[in-house]
Amino acid sequence: MRIDIISVLPELMESPFQTSILKRAVQKGLAEVHFHQLRDWSIGKHRQIDDEPYGGGAGMIMMIEPIDKCISDLKAQREYDEVIYLTPDGETLTQKIANTLSIKNNLIFLCGHYKGIDQRVRELHITKEISIGDYVLTGGELAACVLADSIIRLLPGVLNDEQSALTDSFQDNLLSPPIFTRPAEYKGLKVPDILLSGNSKKIEEWQHDQALQITLEKRPDILR
Ligand code: ADE
Repeated sequence: MRIDIISVLPELMESPFQTSILKRAVQKGLAEVHFHQLRDWSIGKHRQIDDEPYGGGAGMIMMIEPIDKCISDLKAQREYDEVIYLTPDGETLTQKIANTLSIKNNLIFLCGHYKGIDQRVRELHITKEISIGDYVLTGGELAACVLADSIIRLLPGVLNDEQSALTDSFQDNLLSPPIFTRPAEYKGLKVPDILLSGNSKKIEEWQHDQALQITLEKRPDILR
């Protein structure tokens, strides 16, 4: 998978891909992440990428021309499955969306800044708009990292234990059951006996039951 991320602040997104699991995924060649400084497609000698809104109002708008040029240059080099704009008014990111995107080959992420992008960019290039939650960030960069992380960890070979992505919270519309490790007792707090029983069928039943109970308590909205 290849992800091209367009931003005015690409440096904000470097460390997540240079650390731990995402770094390993990149080193193994399972994911390629390329950053593009939008100012490289700016216009005029002031390297302008934003301008005042027509009709007035506060805040600057990201101009159509640099974004169009940048995305068109990328599209001239390869086919993209989706051009995704990170924006608080997009569809809220879910595990299902991450699953769907993880089987694509080439993705473009466009990070918004200031007040956002000229509406015509959406008409021209954007195929999907994604929000990482109902709050507003200073820009789309951190959201792009969240989206990339949620996708890349699903790529075959990225996680050591291939099973572990399958048992994540949300993967079956259920939260995860409680988990424990040694010691079996700490300050009087005991690991449930069933987990020490060695009866894998019983353990699985218990875990499913716990997952169901916890989901009912904390997130009944995700249960179908
Ligand atoms: N840009 C600013 N806020 C955002 C959010 N919540 N999700 C995605 N992109 C954003």
